[in-house]
Amino acid sequence: MKYAIVYSSKTGNTKFLAESLSSHLKERDCILCETRQANKVDADLYFVGFWTCRGECDKDTKHFLEMLKSKDVFLFGTSGFGESPAYYKKILKRTQKYLNASIKLVGSFMCQGKMPIQIRKKYKKKAQFYFLSNVRKTYGQKL
Ligand SMILES: Cc1cc2nc3c(=O)[nH]c(=O)nc-3n(C[C@H](O)[C@H](O)[C@H](O)COP(=O)(O)O)c2cc1C
Repeated sequence: MKYAIVYSSKTGNTKFLAESLSSHLKERDCILCETRQANKVDADLYFVGFWTCRGECDKDTKHFLEMLKSKDVFLFGTSGFGESPAYYKKILKRTQKYLNASIKLVGSFMCQGKMPIQIRKKYKKKAQFYFLSNVRKTYGQKL
């Protein structure tokens, strides 16, 4: 089986995950490359790493996912906000919509990346808003 780890990373968080995974797969037939260089890569299972941009995967990842067909894919991503599994779920769900119907999603993982405190506060606020509106939607008048 051929593996590829294809990642997009602006500030190094997703690259760190991609390289960690690569070091564990080094005995296997596994390519590690950035998303922009990945159009000629051929593998059976793709680990696709993205950084979160406005609530979904970054644009390079979006374009890469849209062109993949009939492969197994494991999605992994990093985000600025990381205290809500529901938030991760939402990001992954939005990202999954770029997968062709022929793709088998074999798994996914998300975690918080390092970022400057001011920017982290901004995303924390956004995620709190999302969390509260979700709670209201679910429990409505009962609260
Ligand atoms: C333009 C821009 C948009 C972002 N949008 C989000 C977002 O919607 N939600 C979030 O949690 N983090 C957001 N982030 C934070 C990054 O996803 C986070 O820092 C990530 O770990 C960066 O990964 P990288 O180091 O691999 O580039 C954004 C960052 C940038 C620069």
